[in-house]
Amino acid sequence: MGGKLAIDGGTPVRTRGWPEWPESRAEAWDQGISAELREVFLGGVEGSPATRANAFATQFADYCGVAHGEMMPHGTDSLMAALTGVLDLDGFRDGGEVIVPNYTFVATASAALDRRCSVAFVDIDPRTRTIDPAAVEDAIDPGRTVAILPVHVGGHPADMTSLQGVADRHGLKIIEDCAQAHGAEIDGRKVGSVGDAGAFSFQSSKNLTSGEGGMVTTDDRETWARAVAFKDCGRHPTGEAWPHPRIGGNFRTSEYLAVLLSARLETLEAETVRRNENAAYLREQLGTVPGITPPHVAPYVTMHGYHHFMVLYDSDAFGGRSRDAFAAAVRAEGIPVGSGYTAPLSDTAPLRHLAEAHPSLVRRLPCPNAESVVDRSVRLTHAHLLGNQDDMDDIVEAVVKVRPAFTAG
Ligand SMILES: Cc1ncc(COP(=O)(O)O)c(C=O)c1O
Repeated sequence: MGGKLAIDGGTPVRTRGWPEWPESRAEAWDQGISAELREVFLGGVEGSPATRANAFATQFADYCGVAHGEMMPHGTDSLMAALTGVLDLDGFRDGGEVIVPNYTFVATASAALDRRCSVAFVDIDPRTRTIDPAAVEDAIDPGRTVAILPVHVGGHPADMTSLQGVADRHGLKIIEDCAQAHGAEIDGRKVGSVGDAGAFSFQSSKNLTSGEGGMVTTDDRETWARAVAFKDCGRHPTGEAWPHPRIGGNFRTSEYLAVLLSARLETLEAETVRRNENAAYLREQLGTVPGITPPHVAPYVTMHGYHHFMVLYDSDAFGGRSRDAFAAAVRAEGIPVGSGYTAPLSDTAPLRHLAEAHPSLVRRLPCPNAESVVDRSVRLTHAHLLGNQDDMDDIVEAVVKVRPAFTAG
């Protein structure tokens, strides 16, 4: 270990590639997917009545431990459908305020805004990067706040027990953003089954994917029925084709997506376990490197989703060199790390413009933890956590190699 850094012309720790995502498993294709896709193609029914999409929704709902699942084209519209279902939004009246974490993807807030809710951005717990329940409680506007939208960011579940306490004390609903947390568990319960509804994404970067796709999960039949109406031109789930009891859009999906998802769901659990094992190894190994704080896993987490493996970087322990310089050096060693969100969401251009144009739609509470996490994060993605121990050792070796070079002289 040690030696001249690859970024300075030295030999990289690793020149081999990393697994592609999604994994192209020829046996999965041969053992079922090809025949199923052929059947859809030749059967002449690629959309409604959505037999395969509905069957997959049931399969996914069972996996999550809820009564109802509804397949959607994206995570963003799944959030919109979940909000619509839980809050009974018609899309025309003011929907009230939804509290969101200020460390997330834009869709968490834009979905709420699209449904005519305003958003309040609050701080996160820096250890888990998920919404801070105390910050939520402080931010509640009793005349306006209607819901909390926690994000299980990077696969680490939010503190749902504390959030439920806050929600119960103030009469609020909870919609879980599960886009990054397929298979994650809180005290043995899968995310998407703990709040009033959950919203998943199956977009191409996600741990379960069909390129694009999404899912709403809920135990409540009326919530589900309203989500279905939002998705299917206002129809009732058991209704006929033409009556439209509500106003809705068309967010129906293709049967092809369901074929892919159904096959890939079979391996999700084993993949999640593998990611947890590799992450445990990395946490142990990287925990000995000064200046690197491995991801904290809260005691209530019985399964981490590990969409990302995110460490916190302390430049003081690395000769004052910046996080970006560190990430560039590690990448040059052959380890494809990134740094995640570049700013708290409220501080990105679209939200700043919106707040200027429509101040009543955006509230920003103090978010020192989100600001610090944005500046200090370095992350691997879930595909890297599917590697073997040699792959994990390469990651550790690269991180260990950088420090002496950064602190020398
Ligand atoms: C936290 C979060 N919420 C929502 C979404 C939206 O999902 P989609 O891209 O499928 O619309 C994403 C996708 O990246 C996400 O990361």
